[in-house]
Formats: sequence, structure tokens, C-alpha cells
Amino acid sequence: MSSSITAVVLAAGKGTRMKSALPKVLHKVCGRPILEHILNMLDEAGVGRIIVVAGYGAEEVSALCSGRAEIALQTEQLGTGHAVMMAAPLLQGNGGTTLVLPGDTPLLRADTMDRLCRLRLETGAGMVLLSAEPDDPGSYGRIVRGDGGTVKAIVEAKDAGPEELKIREINAAVYAFDTDLLLNCLTRIGRNNAQGEYYLTDVVSILSEEDRVEALIAEDPDDIIGINDRLYLSQAGKIMRSRILEAWMLEGITIIDPDSTFIEDSVNIGRDTVIHPFSIIEGETFIGEGCSIGPNAHLTDARLGKGVNVQNSTVLDSDLDDGVSVGPYAYIRPGNRLGEGARAGSFVEIKNSEIGPGSAVPHLSYIGDSSLGADVNIGAGTITCNYDGREKHRTVIGNEAFIGSNTKLIAPVTVGEGAVTGAGAVVNKDVPPWKVAVGMPARVIKRRDWGKGNHAG
Ligand code: UD1
Ligand code: MG
Repeated sequence: MSSSITAVVLAAGKGTRMKSALPKVLHKVCGRPILEHILNMLDEAGVGRIIVVAGYGAEEVSALCSGRAEIALQTEQLGTGHAVMMAAPLLQGNGGTTLVLPGDTPLLRADTMDRLCRLRLETGAGMVLLSAEPDDPGSYGRIVRGDGGTVKAIVEAKDAGPEELKIREINAAVYAFDTDLLLNCLTRIGRNNAQGEYYLTDVVSILSEEDRVEALIAEDPDDIIGINDRLYLSQAGKIMRSRILEAWMLEGITIIDPDSTFIEDSVNIGRDTVIHPFSIIEGETFIGEGCSIGPNAHLTDARLGKGVNVQNSTVLDSDLDDGVSVGPYAYIRPGNRLGEGARAGSFVEIKNSEIGPGSAVPHLSYIGDSSLGADVNIGAGTITCNYDGREKHRTVIGNEAFIGSNTKLIAPVTVGEGAVTGAGAVVNKDVPPWKVAVGMPARVIKRRDWGKGNHAG
């Protein structure tokens, strides 16, 4: 689409029907604020310039738009027509086409913007509006057509009579205008209506007198859902979610039960991964090929290699290398790296730690602020005591060490390569490589006399 197109996004309203302290356009759908979906869509459409009209919560709205859009302030919310008036100074002398769209319609598609603008140029119309025919026209503005089907007016549901309310074709509030004509019409709309507002929709009856309005009917009525209350919010979320899941299935991902799977649009997934039911995958999560996720996996900002298995577990901001297995019932908190083939089993919590390749933390353990080498085995019930009430300390465990069940490692502490701790050991001093330490506090009693490295000194 031509970069000479300017988009004006109306996002100043409070969203009274949301009954929320948060501005409506900042409510999230599939993990992103509604307005961010619109900015992304406009970028994808190749719009040259974006102006966002902000008012209620302008500071937060401007922060979201920072570096992506210009802001026009509407300090008093006197209607959608008034909102566009606030952007008018920025449109003066701009010429070309101006797209106007609401900030509360996150399901709009980039190619629809393209089609609207093209239809305007092809027909020479001053204004092309997007309409839709949903099963339930609800509280949307109704499109009134005259003889021969020409668009005559838009009547808001609150101003409509019983006959008009029966009209199924509704206004999506997305318009492509000849910029100069728009600027001219804005000076001609009043506020004589049920809500006492300047309705942008009144421009239609003004321009239809001159036969300068065309309509494009959206192919999919879901595209135009405007989020006015929390029912619409969940409806839009459901539709966006199923669009995301469908796209992944077509990319070669198996999703066993789309109804119970939630994947945000910031997520990336490799082929032949299988997502089992009741899984939530959010944020900047990357999943490699051939992984098995779920049932009941919750991944946020997680980075998974190939062939990783996560079952009934939560993984936050961590790297799981190829072949790692997590769960069932593990809690992988932020800042971990689990090396190739490592395992974190049931009722295991790991935080800010490196678990070397091939190492296993199979049951009932807390590993925090720790570095484990390769092929370490952690016995059931092992706790790294990383916090002394004031500061956090690190535990370091060398390659091939064997930590006996129910060991307490009082950090800072180092267990050397190949060292062993006996069941129930309370380790408050470093254990040298290949030595066995037992008791409370643990004392070294002998050289390790089994395992691969028993030849070492
Ligand atoms: C609007 C349309 C309606 C259409 C519907 C589609 C008008 C008068 N009505 O109604 O025909 O069917 O969208 O979703 O245009 N806003 C401002 N400043 C204001 C008022 C609103 O910036 O003074 C913004 C809101 O933040 C919102 C958008 O404009 O993002 C639409 O406002 P909203 O109150 O949701 O209008 P609807 O009642 O949905
Ligand atoms: Mg709305």
C-alpha cells in the first residue's frame, strides 16, 4: 500500500462500558494491548504516517505509541467526529488518502485497509466506509441505503427507530477519505443526537448528498468487532486465538485441542511440535522442532530447543536446550539454562541456575542461584540454601557429582567434580573433587570409590 496514506486512530475514549480504570484501548487481547494490534496491522499495511488521538489515559496511550505514531490530544471526549477534529491540524496540507479507524477493533486485517484505499481511488469516491453483516447487529451504527443501494446515512443504535434497528448491515467505523474533503466535512457536523456528541458518522449523510460515498462489505464480519465491554473483549480474544492456532496448524504444528490451548501472537513454534490440551504459551516464547508441550504447560518468555518435553509445568524466561525434559509438576523460574538432555522432574523448583548437559534434578528439590556441571545427579529432597536472610549466595556443583537425597547445600558452597554427599548431609564447607562427605555438618570421610571418575586423585 502507498506510503502516502495517513491513518488516524481514535483512542481517546475512556471506554465507559468496560468499567475499568485502564483506558479501553490498553486492555489486552491475546497478550497485547488492543491498540498495539492496530499499530501492528497498520505497519503491516504499509501506512506512511500514523496519528493516534489520545485523551483518557493519554500518558499511557502515548507511551505505547512512542516511536510509532504521532499523538493528537483530545482533552474532552465529545465524540468520534470531535476526535478527528483534534487531528485536523496535523492533516492540513497532507493531501492524499486518510484512513480513520477506531482504536478498539483489534481484529482488522491489513489487506482490508489496502482494499478500502484502492476502492476509493478506483471509484473516485470522497469516502469509502467498511461495513459488515454480523448475525447480531447489536449496538453498532446501522447503514441506511437508499434507492439503488447507495449509502445514505449511518444511524447510531441509540438514535435509531425500530425499523432502522432491524438493518443488519452495520458500520465498522473504518473509513478511507479524501483528506481535503474530510477536513472540509469536519466543519459541517453538529451534535444534535441522543448522546450530544459530534458523530464522525454524520459525514456520511453530508457526502451522500453529493454521491461521494462507497461501501466495502467485510468478508468476515468478525474482522470488525469493536470492543465496547468485557463480553466483546472475550469474544475478540476467542476469535484471535483461533486465528493464531489455525495459522500454526497450517505451519505443521499439532494442536490436540484448540479449545483449551492459548498461544499469544508473539510466540514462535517449530514444525512437528505437539501441543497437548490446557497449555498456555505466552510472551517471547520460542519452541523448537519436535517438542512435546503439555498437557497443562504454561510457558512465558521461554526458549526451547528441539525435542524438548514440558509436561504439567511452568517455565518462565529460561533456556531449555535440545532434549530437555521438564515435569510433571516442575516450576522453572526466570534465569535458568538447562543444558542438552537435562531433566527437571516432579515437584522441582529451579531459579537463576545453570543445569549442565545430562544432569538430572528428578524429584522434590529446590535449586536456586546455582551452577551445576554436566551429568550431575541431584537426589530427592535436595535444597540449595541460597538465602541467609540478607543476601543470596551461589552453589557450584562440578561435573558428575552425586548429591545424596535430602542434602542441604548451605551457600556459598562448592561441591567438586565427582564428589558425593551422603543422604541427609548438611554441606556448609566445600567438598573437594571425588570425595564423599556425610553428616551434619557434613565432613569428608573418604575418596569416592565408584563411578566413572574413581581413578581421579
Ligand atoms: C462507533 C461508531 C458506530 C460503529 C462502531 C464500530 C460513531 C458515532 N459510531 O461506535 O457507528 O458501529 O464504532 O465499532 O462513530 N473515541 C475518541 N474520542 C471520542 C469518542 C470516541 O477517541 O470522543 C474513540 C474511542 O476511544 C474508540 C473509538 O473512538 O476507540 C470508537 O468509540 P466508541 O465509543 O467505541 O464508539 P462506538 O459506540 O463503538
Ligand atoms: Mg466501539
